Amino acid sequence: MRPLSTSFDPADPGAPARRAAHEKLLGEVRSALAEAGTSRSAKALARHREQGKMTASERLDRLLDPGSPFLEIGGLAARGMYDGGVHKAGSFAGVGVIEGHTCVVQANDAMVKGGTIYPMGVKKALRLQAIAIENRLPFVSLVDSGGAFLPLQSEVFPDLDDGGRIFYNQARMSKLGIPQLCGVMGLCTAGAAYIPAMSDEVVQVRGTGAIFLAGPPLVRAATGEDVTPEDLGGAAMHTSVSGVSDMLAENDADAIDYLRRRVACLPQGGVAPSRSARAPLHDPDQLYDIVPTEPHQPYDIREVIGRIVDASEFEEFKPDYGPTLITGWAYIHGYLVGILGNNGPLFSECALKATHFIQLCDKRGIPLVFLQNVPGFVVGKAFERGGITKHGQQMVAAVSTCTVPKFTVIVGGSFGAGNYAMCGRAYSPRFLWMWPNAQISVMGGEQAARVLIDVQNAQRARSGLGPIGPEEEQAILVPILEHTRSEGNALHATANLWDDGIIEPHRTRDVLGLSIAAALHAPLRDGPEGFGVFRT
Ligand code: COA
Repeated sequence: MRPLSTSFDPADPGAPARRAAHEKLLGEVRSALAEAGTSRSAKALARHREQGKMTASERLDRLLDPGSPFLEIGGLAARGMYDGGVHKAGSFAGVGVIEGHTCVVQANDAMVKGGTIYPMGVKKALRLQAIAIENRLPFVSLVDSGGAFLPLQSEVFPDLDDGGRIFYNQARMSKLGIPQLCGVMGLCTAGAAYIPAMSDEVVQVRGTGAIFLAGPPLVRAATGEDVTPEDLGGAAMHTSVSGVSDMLAENDADAIDYLRRRVACLPQGGVAPSRSARAPLHDPDQLYDIVPTEPHQPYDIREVIGRIVDASEFEEFKPDYGPTLITGWAYIHGYLVGILGNNGPLFSECALKATHFIQLCDKRGIPLVFLQNVPGFVVGKAFERGGITKHGQQMVAAVSTCTVPKFTVIVGGSFGAGNYAMCGRAYSPRFLWMWPNAQISVMGGEQAARVLIDVQNAQRARSGLGPIGPEEEQAILVPILEHTRSEGNALHATANLWDDGIIEPHRTRDVLGLSIAAALHAPLRDGPEGFGVFRT
């Protein structure tokens, strides 16, 4: 492979403004993460301390190998929802390393409403389970939760993707041979009691850890029986009488150390990279100078590829055909990948090239990396006559049914069917990350408003009326633009868990390397090879 050249000019007069725009967005993300990580009430912290409990983040720190890499998942989930206080949707979680084993980890944050589970908390738990299932990673949970957040019980309880699905998944994960280890670190009531109950192995902390289907107040109300939490579901009782737990721990640290020892006894998974990693030739920090934060401003995605891949080496496939989609092979941290990156809208040729490229990678067992900065598919009479929808079908079908692991980074705009064809969330990339400048919506605000104005004018014409005036146009345009701005940005997307997290652009290579390494704990192919019908 040959290294990509760069047209980056350190004296480019536009670079400082681009860097400043990135720094502003990065600053917002960093301060949101700092708030989500640390902003808790003094009362809740004091309650933890008086009970001798560690906080959720302290527990994770002790659980994970010191200095090991950690991919936080959903670090800004539920941001701005439920009055803004349910940071990280109620749990610290991610993919981390315990005794050298890559695991999915989750620690309920009992400093937020007793660790109770909100709708977004369910969504996050299901996403973490999906990561464990797809990548065959052990799941370690540190449970400290009062179960369902009762005021919103109807939104977390009955539906397909509600709370019950967590326990359904636990049973199926166990059947798949995905180890699930659980530390009972607080009073785990009702739904939260099922997390340890459905786990393969359980350690429980004496005094503070309890498991019961109904806590003492409910038991008193229901049966008149007066019982302490320790008698009803404490560690001594569950490890020596009921057998619900397997091991008694004297305190949080003791329980976590036990879990670390148990993880050390699991079989080691994963696949070593086929080459040793080499740093990119071009400095990843220059991404801030090169990449515009507004998705409509053009730049060459090869400048990004050259700052992500080993030695900046890239073997391009079909460079002269469908040139607004770049395809080719490279190594990331020693792992061979096929990369698809946008250099403009998707034309028929791009879709055909992508379909060809995805088939090549699928046949050869090469994971795929999608770098999304896509305004969508081109529109217009000539393109429809040329069969753009049919060609889009081929690309979407190839993305949907290829069997190798896929990874997506939204590095700019992600609009319309471009989001689908470039492996958006609904296309099950193993991980999906966003840059702080990412924008995502079915179409731009201006276009959406124009469509609606057009529809209104057509309705009026059918009633014999003339088109709406400039004031009415503004009344349609302004709220839609505002809506797209507030709902189409990366912070809104990540709050809704449309991604796994916002990453710092210069760290993209490391995040992708860790994502690929995590994914290769599962068999390379996810299901039988082959595709459906390609409409030709
Ligand atoms: N739904 C909504 N809010 C709940 C809740 C629930 N199930 N359980 C606790 N909370 C809230 C409390 O109102 C309190 O809110 P505040 O911070 O605004 O004051 C906060 O969580 C902490 O509760 P508190 O009881 O003060 O803390 P604790 O550490 O002593 O105990 C629990 C925490 C979760 C063990 C305890 O509150 C409890 O047993 N809750 C009931 C659990 C239950 O029966 N759940 C059934 C779900 S199906």
